[in-house]
Amino acid sequence: MFDFTPSTQGDKPALYADLLSAAEAITSGEPDAIANMANLAALIWQYLPDLNWAGFYRRVDGELLLGPFQGKPACIRIALGKGVCGTAAATAQTQLVTDVHSFPGHIACDAASASEIVVPIIVEGRVTAVLDLDSPSLGRFDASDQQGLEALIKRIGERLA
Ligand code: SME
Repeated sequence: MFDFTPSTQGDKPALYADLLSAAEAITSGEPDAIANMANLAALIWQYLPDLNWAGFYRRVDGELLLGPFQGKPACIRIALGKGVCGTAAATAQTQLVTDVHSFPGHIACDAASASEIVVPIIVEGRVTAVLDLDSPSLGRFDASDQQGLEALIKRIGERLA
């Protein structure tokens, strides 16, 4: 049994440092990307407040395919370049969206979503998946979330591919 609990609240850099340690520990020595994605989605859901969806889309046969997640059932396939996830995958750039209703082509899987951040997972120069977090609050994600999540993916990314 794993018992990871955030040791801090409120301060985002400290929370992300905590999340990173837990993610490193739980994925250490495990080569299966889907198992690692499943545990990482669960950890993110536990550690980060104010989310209504947290999970992965994997790049399979030229499109994004739903992977392990926490939250309500979601769209299964997303074309590269479509929506926030497809844009992150096509550009290999994090998409930080303070209001999803003003993002052209945003795909509403859960009507409750108001803001979103999508971080591409890049292994050996290729986007292999994206990490997608949604929140019911406008402007939930800021530069420190982007920094924390990008650092997490940089460290753990190879274990997710
Ligand atoms: N909103 C995303 C779709 C995935 S769901 O949020 C889980 C998008 O626009 O790509």
